[in-house]
Amino acid sequence: MAVIGGDGIGPEVLAEALKVVAAAGVDLDTAYFELGAGHYLRSGEVLSDSVLEELAGFDALLLGAVGPPIGSKEVPPGVLERGLLLRLRFELDLYVNLRPFNGVPGSIAEGCDFAVVRENTEGPYAGEGGVLRRGTPHEVATQGSVNTRYGVERCIAFAFELAAKRRRKVTLVHKTNVLTYSGDLWRRCFEEVAASHPDVETGYQHVDAACIYFVEQPGDYDVVVTDNLFGDILTDLGGAVSGGIGLAASANLNPARTGPSLFEPVHGAAHDIAGTGKANPLAAIRSAAMMLAHLGEQEPARRITEAVLSEQTAMARSTDKWSTAAVGDAVAGRL
Ligand code: IPM
Ligand code: MN
Repeated sequence: MAVIGGDGIGPEVLAEALKVVAAAGVDLDTAYFELGAGHYLRSGEVLSDSVLEELAGFDALLLGAVGPPIGSKEVPPGVLERGLLLRLRFELDLYVNLRPFNGVPGSIAEGCDFAVVRENTEGPYAGEGGVLRRGTPHEVATQGSVNTRYGVERCIAFAFELAAKRRRKVTLVHKTNVLTYSGDLWRRCFEEVAASHPDVETGYQHVDAACIYFVEQPGDYDVVVTDNLFGDILTDLGGAVSGGIGLAASANLNPARTGPSLFEPVHGAAHDIAGTGKANPLAAIRSAAMMLAHLGEQEPARRITEAVLSEQTAMARSTDKWSTAAVGDAVAGRL
């Protein structure tokens, strides 16, 4: 597997993830890659074609976090996002971004267990659009949302297959009352896929209403399926209501397995706490467990996930101070 520590707290949280994987008895063959803001500033390169090709040859990619310090003028917005993260998602066809949430004691979503299946290759992220007459009073900017039947269907199909293995409920989140073209495609694909899963309960919410229900009734969800941008926003909210973004794990999956999948915590590089030992590695550790599950190492994946859930519960109940390495040790100890 390829390890991309990245910037800020990225390498610190990944070190704990790898520590835990080793403690679970899984022997990984790792190769380290320097990518991210630091690498870009040193080399002028975001992601070269040859490095991308090399990465495509691995079984899995584990990424910490990439990004410059907030407000940095050296790396303009979009350079790393589009050039590295989105490029990996698009070129490796990582069409599902799976983000599980388990609310810790004291959180709004205490005791809840739900997952968001975010479409990961289309929507407003696709890059459709452009700008005309830039810098003039007549400037025009458009940014379209790309939704293909192929892309929408395969994402929704994944959500139903996941729900069939869980509590058998899928909620579609969109904005069909305003986004009448894309929303209509999503709704029809959803109904068609649902018809082949009669044992799975279905629901629909507009995204604005879903923001209320994520806070007021998070226990109603099992699997949520939604488009790329709604999924981006809702999963930060999912993190916030279930105990903090430091717990939010993600798997960027290529379920067709035409190449490697990529696993990363939802949080960013958090330069403000880099090197202080304050970063919570649980999201990275859980992401590594999702990687093991995808690679067929079901038993260690299950054990690590259980250990992470126990540890996050214990941490939520305690007022003790902890450090990044101590949390990694504690999870490893639970194995
Ligand atoms: C995420 C991040 C990314 C996204 C950014 C960094 C491109 O916010 O993984 O949620 O918007 O998808
Ligand atoms: Mn995000």
